[in-house]
Amino acid sequence: MIPRWLVRVRLRENGPLLIDDDEVTIVDWNGQPYAISKRPVALCRCGGSASKPFCDGTHRKIGFKADNAADENAEVKTQNAE
Ligand code: FES
Repeated sequence: MIPRWLVRVRLRENGPLLIDDDEVTIVDWNGQPYAISKRPVALCRCGGSASKPFCDGTHRKIGFKADNAADENAEVKTQNAE
């Protein structure tokens, strides 16, 4: 069971980022929430969507190939984006 304050983000193979949480809100840089019409939320990671930040299926048309799957032994490198 995932604690309530954690959200799981799943990477689809060669596809979007899926957020399963029914209560997740996606906001723009001004803090304005996007209307979400479909769950789970699928965020584009191929860069090709015409509906960014959401996936519109373009990744299939452009043959998007994602990086390798997670390596549990790899050091996690993150960067604070703000
Ligand atoms: S990941 Fe689906 S359109 Fe970009």
